[in-house]
Parts: sequence; C-alpha cells; structure tokens
Amino acid sequence: MWDPSKYLTFADHRARPFFDLVGRIAVEAPRRVADLGCGPGNLTSALAQRWPAARIEACDSSQEMVAAARERGIDATVLDVRDWRPEPDTDVVVSNAVLQWVPGHEELLARWVKQLPRGAWLAFQVPGNFGAPSHVRVRELVASPRWRDRLESVVLREDDAVLDPEGYAGLLSDAGCAVDAWETTYLHRLTGADPVLEWVTGTALRPIRTALSDEDWTEFRAELAPRLRAEYPERVDGTTWFPFRRVFAVAQKR
Ligand SMILES: C[S@@+](CC[C@H](N)C(=O)[O-])C[C@H]1O[C@@H](n2cnc3c(N)ncnc32)[C@H](O)[C@@H]1O
Repeated sequence: MWDPSKYLTFADHRARPFFDLVGRIAVEAPRRVADLGCGPGNLTSALAQRWPAARIEACDSSQEMVAAARERGIDATVLDVRDWRPEPDTDVVVSNAVLQWVPGHEELLARWVKQLPRGAWLAFQVPGNFGAPSHVRVRELVASPRWRDRLESVVLREDDAVLDPEGYAGLLSDAGCAVDAWETTYLHRLTGADPVLEWVTGTALRPIRTALSDEDWTEFRAELAPRLRAEYPERVDGTTWFPFRRVFAVAQKR
C-alpha cells in the first residue's frame, strides 16, 4: 500500500528529477497530456500549469494515491499503466519514477510509441540505484535466516529492474523515435534521524511493510536502521548524504 504523506516527506528532492525530465519536452501547446503513475498529484499540477490549454489525464494503480491526487483537483483514475491506451490526441506522456515497478515495461514502451500520434512525446525517469547499499542491505536482511521465511513471498527489485540510458535509447530509437537519454546521480542532502531509512520506507520497503505484522515491521526497521546508518553516516553538520542515480529518456515519435 502506498502512503501519500510518507511519500511526500521528500517531495522537494523527488521533484527535481521530474523537472529535469519535463524540461526536455519541447512542445508548446499539446492537446492532451497523460501522467502515468501520477502518485499524489503534486507534480501533475505542474504539468497543468505548464500547459494550461491541454487536457490533463492522470492515473495510478494505488487508490490512496488517486484519492490524494483528486483532493488536489486532479482528475485522476485508478488504473494500472499496463492497461492504459493513448487517445488519438495524446501529445505528451510523462511517467516519473513508476516503470521500475513494472516488469516488462520495455514492451509497454514500444507499444505506447506504436499507438501514439506522430510527433508525440514520451518522457520517463526511473531510479537506477538498485545496486546501491540502500537496496543491497535491504535484500541482505530479507534473505537472512531471521526474515527469509516470513518474507519469502516478497519480490524485491534487483539491478536488472531498469535499463541504462543506452538501453532505453536503443529501444525507443528502434521503435521509431528521436531520443534523448541520460543519467544523473543526485546527491540528496537529508536531515533528521535515519533519513535514508525514512526515504526507503516510503518506496522500496512498501512490499515488506505489507507482508509483516506491525510488531515484525517495527523489528525489521530496527534491524535495518544501523545497517543503513553505517552506509550513510550522519556528517558533523547533521546532514546525511544520499547519492541516488536516476535514468531518463525523452523520446519524440518521428
Ligand atoms: C515513486 S511514485 C511516483 C509518483 C509520481 N509520478 C511522482 O513522480 O511523484 C510511484 C507511483 O507509481 C505507482 N505505480 C506503481 N506501479 C504502477 C502500475 N503498474 N500502474 C500504475 N501506477 C503504478 C504507485 O502507486 C506510485 O504512486
């Protein structure tokens, strides 16, 4: 289950890649803009501000996220991105930090390109940090004798959950697009106690949270906290630095 308020704790850090992404979409007046996996809708609002004449469409598979987006006045619907189809006037598709949750999204991207009108833009960003200590330590703990039986049904994302920029560029180019793909490692400077634990609680740990009782969840977090603290130590000024690689692709259908 997604918790919109937990997710929004780091809204400022999470917004920057979104703006870096949509800043590369060079269209003045799209007819329809789709935000796939819109989350709590705070960034969908930015799309509406940038293109006030466009029809804004948003979807997310989480009822909680859609409810939060609707509270912001976004006309969002509960829908899995795998079931989404472009309308004939869809000129822009944005999907920010979503496709890493969708195994086989490569085929989905190729299908969307085929269905979009000529000249349409497809822009997405995915985390490329599944080999980072923040994920490796979680996978180690899940596989440890203490937790592996209780968490055997939990599927965690591995390094191959996403492609690198060249992989997406090749796929989209073969599908008939002009492509701009790149990666950026952001150095998030976080504050507060165990901020990396708090960060991953809002995203990567969700399947674990769902699988555990309240009591086990408290214990799991207590075991994970020192491991993450050792990887991401608090600095003398009280900040904790969290490097985070992200992969971007912006494609225009020829
Ligand atoms: C990290 S959040 C990103 C939200 C928003 N795009 C943003 O940038 O703030 C990931 C979102 O993807 C949604 N999601 C995950 N898998 C999905 C799927 N298969 N179809 C639709 N939404 C999905 C989640 O519910 C969640 O709201």
